[in-house]
Amino acid sequence: MRIIALQGSPRRDGHTAALLESFLSPLRATHTVKRIDVCYQHILPCQSCYACQSSSACVTDDDMQDLYSHLAYDDVVVLASPVYFYGVTAQLKAVIDRCQPFWANPSQRKTTRVGVLLLTAGAPDAHGTGVSTTESAVRIFMACIGAPLSYVLSATNTDAVPVCKQHAVLEAAAATAKKLAHATKGGEICV
Ligand SMILES: Cc1cc2nc3c(=O)[nH]c(=O)nc-3n(C[C@H](O)[C@H](O)[C@H](O)COP(=O)(O)O)c2cc1C
Repeated sequence: MRIIALQGSPRRDGHTAALLESFLSPLRATHTVKRIDVCYQHILPCQSCYACQSSSACVTDDDMQDLYSHLAYDDVVVLASPVYFYGVTAQLKAVIDRCQPFWANPSQRKTTRVGVLLLTAGAPDAHGTGVSTTESAVRIFMACIGAPLSYVLSATNTDAVPVCKQHAVLEAAAATAKKLAHATKGGEICV
């Protein structure tokens, strides 16, 4: 089974990457895993040309063209991002907005896939982190591309405690990966 993981932080080895790697590591032995750090791709924001309404494809020729087939057909789609002002990073939001062709033409993606969201946030929960608002927006997006969110994990308070020291969260990520591996055993998805 194929897994596409989009990592939204500019920090390749930051908190989000640590959480993502805890999740992906157990899956690498049994699944084909591709991690893309979207901040290092050339992906322009949607220019609202609406060409995808008539042609069914995005006409902007950049690195997003290589991502479309993964987002349309890979069995598991993972989004990982730090919370930036109650949303995902601008670079990951650009990817999300460039998925308008899936909204315009829902038949051009596989359904019955699995969506995963991993978030990190600097503030402690008691101060309001923006994790829930970010999750709400991502949930709608993942339904749109046919990979509804089945698993959501967040690590908060990273300003005080780095993710690499949040052992309970890292163990939860590994445990969630095992659940996913079980759910996708034998090429069938059963969440
Ligand atoms: C521009 C910017 C906006 C941020 N906004 C929030 C926020 O709304 N809520 C929050 O809890 N943390 C916020 N943070 C903190 C990051 O979410 C936190 O440091 C995160 O764990 C960084 O992950 P990374 O190391 O993968 O980049 C913000 C950080 C930056 C740079």
